[in-house]
Amino acid sequence: MAKARILVTRHLPEEVESRLVRDFAAELNVADRILSSAEIAERAKAFDGLLVTSMDRCRKELIDALPASIRMIATFSVGTDHIDIPAARAKGIAVANTPDVLTDATADIALLLMLGAARGAVWGDRMVRENRWLPPSITFPLGHDVSGRRLGIYGMGRIGQAVAKRAAAFGMSLHYHNRKPVAADLSHGAMYHGTLDSMLPHCDFLSINCASTAETRDSINERTISMLPGGAIVVNTARGDIINDEALISALKSGKLAAAGLDVFKNEPNIDPRYRELDNVFMLPHLGSATKNTRIAMGMRAVDNLEAFFRGERPRDLLTGA
Ligand code: 8YV
Repeated sequence: MAKARILVTRHLPEEVESRLVRDFAAELNVADRILSSAEIAERAKAFDGLLVTSMDRCRKELIDALPASIRMIATFSVGTDHIDIPAARAKGIAVANTPDVLTDATADIALLLMLGAARGAVWGDRMVRENRWLPPSITFPLGHDVSGRRLGIYGMGRIGQAVAKRAAAFGMSLHYHNRKPVAADLSHGAMYHGTLDSMLPHCDFLSINCASTAETRDSINERTISMLPGGAIVVNTARGDIINDEALISALKSGKLAAAGLDVFKNEPNIDPRYRELDNVFMLPHLGSATKNTRIAMGMRAVDNLEAFFRGERPRDLLTGA
Protein backbone atom coordinates (compact mmCIF):
# COMPACT_ATOMS: atom_id res chain seq x y z
CA MET A 1 0.00 0.00 0.00
CA ALA A 2 1.29 3.46 -0.89
CA LYS A 3 2.48 5.51 2.05
CA ALA A 4 0.27 8.43 3.05
CA ARG A 5 1.72 11.80 2.01
CA ILE A 6 2.21 14.21 4.92
CA LEU A 7 3.16 17.88 4.74
CA VAL A 8 5.01 18.89 7.92
CA THR A 9 4.81 22.66 8.39
CA ARG A 10 7.72 23.19 10.84
CA HIS A 11 11.06 21.63 11.73
CA LEU A 12 10.50 18.95 14.40
CA PRO A 13 12.90 17.00 16.66
CA GLU A 14 15.19 14.70 14.69
CA GLU A 15 13.69 11.53 16.21
CA VAL A 16 10.23 12.58 15.05
CA GLU A 17 11.36 13.58 11.57
CA SER A 18 13.19 10.23 11.14
CA ARG A 19 10.02 8.37 11.96
CA LEU A 20 7.98 10.56 9.63
CA VAL A 21 10.24 9.88 6.64
CA ARG A 22 10.36 6.17 7.48
CA ASP A 23 6.62 5.65 7.79
CA PHE A 24 5.17 8.25 5.42
CA ALA A 25 5.91 10.04 2.19
CA ALA A 26 6.63 13.10 4.34
CA GLU A 27 7.82 16.50 3.24
CA LEU A 28 9.78 18.06 6.09
CA ASN A 29 10.62 21.72 6.70
CA VAL A 30 14.14 21.33 8.04
CA ALA A 31 14.91 24.98 7.21
CA ASP A 32 11.97 25.87 9.49
CA ARG A 33 10.70 28.45 7.06
CA ILE A 34 7.34 29.88 8.13
CA LEU A 35 4.69 28.97 5.57
CA SER A 36 1.79 31.33 4.94
CA SER A 37 -1.77 29.97 4.95
CA ALA A 38 -1.95 30.47 1.19
CA GLU A 39 1.25 28.48 0.75
CA ILE A 40 0.01 25.64 2.97
CA ALA A 41 -3.23 25.46 0.97
CA GLU A 42 -1.34 25.47 -2.33
CA ARG A 43 1.23 22.85 -1.30
CA ALA A 44 -1.42 20.67 0.34
CA LYS A 45 -2.58 19.60 -3.14
CA ALA A 46 0.17 16.99 -3.19
CA PHE A 47 -0.63 15.57 0.29
CA ASP A 48 -3.11 13.47 2.27
CA GLY A 49 -2.46 14.93 5.71
CA LEU A 50 -0.94 17.92 7.47
CA LEU A 51 1.22 17.96 10.58
CA VAL A 52 0.90 21.52 11.91
CA THR A 53 1.86 23.37 15.09
CA SER A 54 0.03 25.94 17.17
CA MET A 55 1.98 28.59 15.28
CA ASP A 56 0.09 27.74 12.08
CA ARG A 57 -3.24 29.54 11.92
CA CYS A 58 -5.66 26.98 10.51
CA ARG A 59 -8.61 29.36 10.19
CA LYS A 60 -11.78 28.70 8.21
CA GLU A 61 -10.29 30.36 5.09
CA LEU A 62 -7.36 27.93 5.11
CA ILE A 63 -9.49 24.87 5.89
CA ASP A 64 -11.97 25.82 3.16
CA ALA A 65 -9.08 26.29 0.71
CA LEU A 66 -7.57 22.85 1.44
CA PRO A 67 -7.80 20.34 -1.42
CA ALA A 68 -10.04 17.28 -1.11
CA SER A 69 -6.90 15.12 -0.82
CA ILE A 70 -6.33 16.34 2.79
CA ARG A 71 -8.07 13.93 5.15
CA MET A 72 -6.37 14.69 8.44
CA ILE A 73 -4.74 17.53 10.37
CA ALA A 74 -2.53 16.38 13.25
CA THR A 75 -1.44 19.24 15.46
CA PHE A 76 1.76 19.24 17.48
CA SER A 77 0.03 20.85 20.48
CA VAL A 78 -2.58 20.19 23.11
CA GLY A 79 -4.23 23.54 22.33
CA THR A 80 -6.52 23.61 19.32
CA ASP A 81 -7.59 27.26 19.30
CA HIS A 82 -5.53 27.79 16.13
CA ILE A 83 -7.73 25.32 14.22
CA ASP A 84 -11.30 25.99 13.15
CA ILE A 85 -12.59 22.57 14.18
CA PRO A 86 -16.20 23.11 12.99
CA ALA A 87 -14.82 24.06 9.54
CA ALA A 88 -12.69 20.89 9.51
CA ARG A 89 -15.67 18.80 10.61
CA ALA A 90 -17.84 20.33 7.88
CA LYS A 91 -15.22 19.29 5.33
CA GLY A 92 -14.85 15.80 6.79
CA ILE A 93 -11.22 16.44 7.83
CA ALA A 94 -10.11 14.58 10.96
CA VAL A 95 -8.23 16.57 13.64
CA ALA A 96 -6.09 15.21 16.51
CA ASN A 97 -3.91 16.94 19.13
CA THR A 98 -1.18 15.84 21.61
CA PRO A 99 -2.50 15.90 25.20
CA ASP A 100 -0.92 14.26 28.30
CA VAL A 101 2.72 14.27 27.22
CA LEU A 102 3.24 17.98 27.95
CA THR A 103 1.25 18.14 31.19
CA ASP A 104 4.18 17.93 33.62
CA ALA A 105 6.47 20.24 31.65
CA THR A 106 3.76 22.90 31.44
CA ALA A 107 2.81 22.59 35.11
CA ASP A 108 6.50 22.98 36.01
CA ILE A 109 6.56 26.26 34.10
CA ALA A 110 3.43 27.45 35.94
CA LEU A 111 5.26 26.91 39.25
CA LEU A 112 8.37 28.60 37.85
CA LEU A 113 6.21 31.61 36.92
CA MET A 114 4.61 31.74 40.37
CA LEU A 115 7.96 31.56 42.11
CA GLY A 116 9.71 33.87 39.66
CA ALA A 117 6.98 36.51 39.78
CA ALA A 118 6.59 36.37 43.57
CA ARG A 119 10.26 36.25 44.50
CA GLY A 120 11.54 38.82 42.03
CA ALA A 121 13.42 36.67 39.54
CA VAL A 122 13.51 39.57 37.05
CA TRP A 123 14.84 42.33 39.29
CA GLY A 124 16.96 39.89 41.33
CA ASP A 125 18.71 38.60 38.25
CA ARG A 126 19.24 42.14 36.99
CA MET A 127 20.75 43.28 40.29
CA VAL A 128 23.39 40.57 40.12
CA ARG A 129 23.99 40.83 36.38
CA GLU A 130 24.26 44.62 36.39
CA ASN A 131 26.43 44.74 39.52
CA ARG A 132 23.82 46.62 41.57
CA TRP A 133 23.93 44.28 44.63
CA LEU A 134 25.76 46.70 46.86
CA PRO A 135 25.21 47.61 49.61
CA PRO A 136 23.50 44.37 50.75
CA SER A 137 20.33 45.17 52.70
CA ILE A 138 17.87 43.38 54.99
CA THR A 139 14.90 45.50 53.98
CA PHE A 140 15.38 45.89 50.24
CA PRO A 141 14.42 44.32 47.88
CA LEU A 142 11.68 42.04 49.22
CA GLY A 143 9.42 39.62 47.37
CA HIS A 144 6.21 37.83 48.30
CA ASP A 145 5.65 34.43 49.92
CA VAL A 146 4.37 31.53 47.87
CA SER A 147 4.26 28.79 50.54
CA GLY A 148 1.14 28.89 52.66
CA ARG A 149 -0.77 31.28 50.37
CA ARG A 150 -4.00 30.71 48.44
CA LEU A 151 -3.92 29.60 44.79
CA GLY A 152 -6.89 29.70 42.44
CA ILE A 153 -6.63 27.43 39.41
CA TYR A 154 -8.73 28.58 36.46
CA GLY A 155 -9.30 25.41 34.42
CA MET A 156 -8.85 22.06 36.17
CA GLY A 157 -7.94 19.86 33.21
CA ARG A 158 -4.79 17.78 33.12
CA ILE A 159 -2.43 20.75 33.46
CA GLY A 160 -4.52 22.45 36.18
CA GLN A 161 -4.47 19.20 38.15
CA ALA A 162 -0.69 18.92 37.79
CA VAL A 163 -0.35 22.52 39.01
CA ALA A 164 -2.56 21.65 42.02
CA LYS A 165 -0.36 18.66 42.86
CA ARG A 166 2.77 20.81 42.84
CA ALA A 167 1.20 23.73 44.70
CA ALA A 168 -0.09 21.37 47.42
CA ALA A 169 3.55 20.42 48.05
CA PHE A 170 4.25 24.12 48.65
CA GLY A 171 1.59 24.15 51.37
CA MET A 172 -0.69 26.40 49.33
CA SER A 173 -4.43 26.27 49.98
CA LEU A 174 -6.14 25.48 46.72
CA HIS A 175 -9.25 26.69 44.94
CA TYR A 176 -10.38 25.97 41.40
CA HIS A 177 -12.95 26.92 38.85
CA ASN A 178 -13.87 24.52 36.08
CA ARG A 179 -17.05 23.93 34.12
CA LYS A 180 -17.56 20.79 36.21
CA PRO A 181 -16.01 19.63 39.49
CA VAL A 182 -13.30 16.98 39.13
CA ALA A 183 -12.85 13.87 41.30
CA ALA A 184 -11.40 14.66 44.74
CA ASP A 185 -8.17 12.71 44.12
CA LEU A 186 -7.51 14.78 41.01
CA SER A 187 -8.11 18.16 42.64
CA HIS A 188 -5.62 17.60 45.48
CA GLY A 189 -7.98 19.04 48.08
CA ALA A 190 -8.81 22.18 46.08
CA MET A 191 -12.17 23.84 46.80
CA TYR A 192 -14.51 23.96 43.79
CA HIS A 193 -16.10 27.21 42.61
CA GLY A 194 -18.93 27.01 40.08
CA THR A 195 -18.04 30.46 38.73
CA LEU A 196 -14.79 32.32 38.14
CA ASP A 197 -16.23 35.31 40.02
CA SER A 198 -16.80 33.31 43.20
CA MET A 199 -13.20 32.04 43.18
CA LEU A 200 -11.39 35.31 42.49
CA PRO A 201 -11.64 36.88 45.98
CA HIS A 202 -9.80 33.78 47.34
CA CYS A 203 -6.80 34.02 45.01
CA ASP A 204 -3.51 35.39 46.29
CA PHE A 205 -2.26 33.65 43.16
CA LEU A 206 -4.32 32.97 40.05
CA SER A 207 -3.02 30.34 37.62
CA ILE A 208 -4.67 30.33 34.21
CA ASN A 209 -4.90 26.77 32.89
CA CYS A 210 -8.05 26.77 30.77
CA ALA A 211 -8.31 26.47 26.99
CA SER A 212 -8.85 29.61 24.93
CA THR A 213 -12.52 29.50 23.93
CA ALA A 214 -15.23 32.06 23.16
CA GLU A 215 -16.13 31.87 26.86
CA THR A 216 -12.64 32.29 28.34
CA ARG A 217 -11.15 34.82 25.89
CA ASP A 218 -10.67 38.21 27.56
CA SER A 219 -12.15 36.80 30.79
CA ILE A 220 -9.28 38.15 32.89
CA ASN A 221 -10.20 41.78 32.42
CA GLU A 222 -10.72 44.98 34.40
CA ARG A 223 -13.85 43.62 36.11
CA THR A 224 -12.43 40.24 37.11
CA ILE A 225 -9.02 41.61 38.11
CA SER A 226 -10.81 44.04 40.45
CA MET A 227 -12.27 41.00 42.27
CA LEU A 228 -8.82 39.63 43.16
CA PRO A 229 -7.36 40.55 46.55
CA GLY A 230 -4.98 43.54 46.45
CA GLY A 231 -1.41 42.42 45.75
CA ALA A 232 -2.45 39.21 43.96
CA ILE A 233 -0.18 37.54 41.41
CA VAL A 234 -1.47 36.25 38.05
CA VAL A 235 0.33 33.57 36.03
CA ASN A 236 -0.57 32.33 32.57
CA THR A 237 0.65 29.17 30.84
CA ALA A 238 -2.51 28.70 28.75
CA ARG A 239 -3.14 31.27 26.02
CA GLY A 240 -2.45 35.01 25.94
CA ASP A 241 -5.89 36.00 24.68
CA ILE A 242 -7.54 34.87 27.94
CA ILE A 243 -6.06 38.04 29.47
CA ASN A 244 -7.00 41.58 28.53
CA ASP A 245 -3.54 43.18 28.25
CA GLU A 246 -4.79 46.71 28.89
CA ALA A 247 -6.37 45.66 32.21
CA LEU A 248 -3.42 43.53 33.33
CA ILE A 249 -0.83 46.20 32.54
CA SER A 250 -2.82 48.88 34.31
CA ALA A 251 -3.27 46.66 37.43
CA LEU A 252 0.48 45.88 37.45
CA LYS A 253 1.28 49.58 37.21
CA SER A 254 -1.19 50.68 39.90
CA GLY A 255 -0.07 48.01 42.39
CA LYS A 256 -3.50 46.33 42.42
CA LEU A 257 -1.53 43.28 41.32
CA ALA A 258 1.89 42.68 42.86
CA ALA A 259 3.26 40.79 39.87
CA ALA A 260 2.53 38.54 36.93
CA GLY A 261 4.25 35.57 35.35
CA LEU A 262 3.54 35.11 31.65
CA ASP A 263 4.62 32.31 29.34
CA VAL A 264 1.97 33.09 26.72
CA PHE A 265 0.81 36.32 25.11
CA LYS A 266 -1.71 37.70 22.70
CA ASN A 267 -0.16 37.96 19.18
CA GLU A 268 3.01 36.05 19.99
CA PRO A 269 5.77 36.92 19.38
CA ASN A 270 4.64 40.54 18.84
CA ILE A 271 3.56 41.11 22.42
CA ASP A 272 2.23 44.34 23.88
CA PRO A 273 5.54 46.24 24.23
CA ARG A 274 4.46 47.82 27.54
CA TYR A 275 5.14 44.50 29.29
CA ARG A 276 8.84 44.99 28.61
CA GLU A 277 8.88 48.12 30.75
CA LEU A 278 7.53 46.39 33.86
CA ASP A 279 9.92 44.96 36.44
CA ASN A 280 7.10 43.08 38.17
CA VAL A 281 6.42 40.82 35.16
CA PHE A 282 8.39 37.62 34.80
CA MET A 283 8.15 36.60 31.14
CA LEU A 284 9.12 33.56 29.11
CA PRO A 285 8.78 32.98 25.35
CA HIS A 286 6.11 30.22 25.41
CA LEU A 287 8.33 27.56 26.98
CA GLY A 288 5.53 25.44 28.54
CA SER A 289 6.36 22.30 26.56
CA ALA A 290 9.89 23.30 25.60
CA THR A 291 12.01 20.44 26.87
CA LYS A 292 13.73 18.02 24.53
CA ASN A 293 11.91 14.97 25.87
CA THR A 294 8.52 16.65 25.91
CA ARG A 295 8.82 17.93 22.35
CA ILE A 296 9.90 14.45 21.18
CA ALA A 297 6.95 12.90 23.01
CA MET A 298 4.56 15.43 21.44
CA GLY A 299 5.89 14.66 17.99
CA MET A 300 5.63 10.89 18.55
CA ARG A 301 2.06 11.34 19.74
CA ALA A 302 1.19 13.36 16.62
CA VAL A 303 2.78 10.65 14.44
CA ASP A 304 0.89 7.92 16.36
CA ASN A 305 -2.32 9.77 15.52
CA LEU A 306 -1.42 10.06 11.83
CA GLU A 307 -0.43 6.39 11.63
CA ALA A 308 -3.62 5.20 13.26
CA PHE A 309 -5.74 7.35 10.99
CA PHE A 310 -4.06 6.28 7.76
CA ARG A 311 -4.22 2.62 8.86
CA GLY A 312 -7.96 3.09 9.08
CA GLU A 313 -8.09 3.04 12.89
CA ARG A 314 -9.39 5.66 15.29
CA PRO A 315 -6.52 7.90 16.46
CA ARG A 316 -6.19 8.07 20.24
CA ASP A 317 -6.50 11.86 20.34
CA LEU A 318 -9.14 12.32 17.67
CA LEU A 319 -11.13 15.53 18.19
CA THR A 320 -13.25 15.33 15.09
CA GLY A 321 -13.48 13.06 12.05
CA ALA A 322 -13.87 9.42 11.16
C1 8YV B 1 3.64 24.32 22.10
C2 8YV B 1 1.31 24.69 23.25
O1 8YV B 1 4.72 25.15 22.30
O2 8YV B 1 0.66 22.44 23.13
C3 8YV B 1 0.29 23.61 23.13
O3 8YV B 1 -0.90 23.92 23.01
O4 8YV B 1 0.96 25.82 23.32
C4 8YV B 1 2.79 24.39 23.33
O5 8YV B 1 3.01 23.21 23.96
C5 8YV B 1 3.10 24.59 20.81
O6 8YV B 1 1.82 24.13 20.68
C6 8YV B 1 3.93 24.05 19.66
O7 8YV B 1 3.09 23.84 18.57
